[in-house]
Amino acid sequence: MQQLGSMVIRPATEEDLNAVLGIYNAAIENTTAVFEYRPHSIDARREWFANKRAGGWPVIVAVDRDVVIGFASYGPFRGWPAYKYSVEHSVYVAESSRRQGVGEALLRAVVDDARARGFHTMIGGVTSDNTASLKLHRKVGFVDAGAVRQSGYKFGRWLDLVFVQIVFDTPSDPKDG
Ligand SMILES: CC(C)(COP(=O)(O)OP(=O)(O)OC[C@H]1O[C@@H](n2cnc3c(N)ncnc32)[C@H](O)[C@@H]1OP(=O)(O)O)[C@@H](O)C(=O)NCCC(=O)NCCS
Repeated sequence: MQQLGSMVIRPATEEDLNAVLGIYNAAIENTTAVFEYRPHSIDARREWFANKRAGGWPVIVAVDRDVVIGFASYGPFRGWPAYKYSVEHSVYVAESSRRQGVGEALLRAVVDDARARGFHTMIGGVTSDNTASLKLHRKVGFVDAGAVRQSGYKFGRWLDLVFVQIVFDTPSDPKDG
């Protein structure tokens, strides 16, 4: 757990999922951050959370005075075994709590977690018009790793996906298999 002013960054619990769902669905409905058209149900979020838990992947929330104002997570980058040292993350902040350092605190927390667990690189997929997210990632040390042009279609237009990544000096002793 990490305390920053009145904000706490801590692991998510089942009780946080309604708030997490609200933040996620707002991002689906209003932004190109999620390549999804329709809001998710609470059951879908519970399943997502259960899968994260089963896989041992972290889900963290930012909480201010008992209100969940953001969340972040990471999981496998791609399924093939030799990607085992790579992870892909996501970070979302409630609209009313943006530009106050919440996204940066959440992103730094998942970066620190991945490094501490011995992963080698963390990757994010950011729509090319998401200036806020691109700047946030660059501020935390991510660099651009290429773009896949017109890989999504939402709000009546093609979306380019920019990959951003940060490379760690871990693990100290990487192995095949
Ligand atoms: C992207 C997002 C997570 C940023 O969260 P946030 O809490 O507002 O970001 P912070 O306040 O921690 O800002 C950290 C840095 O990010 C950059 N940044 C954040 N919002 C920005 C904006 N609207 N315009 C320009 N830069 C921005 C700045 O570099 C900022 O540092 P500074 O305050 O020193 O200028 C938030 O806008 C969000 O949830 N957006 C919708 C979902 C999304 O896009 N998620 C990322 C998917 S890849």
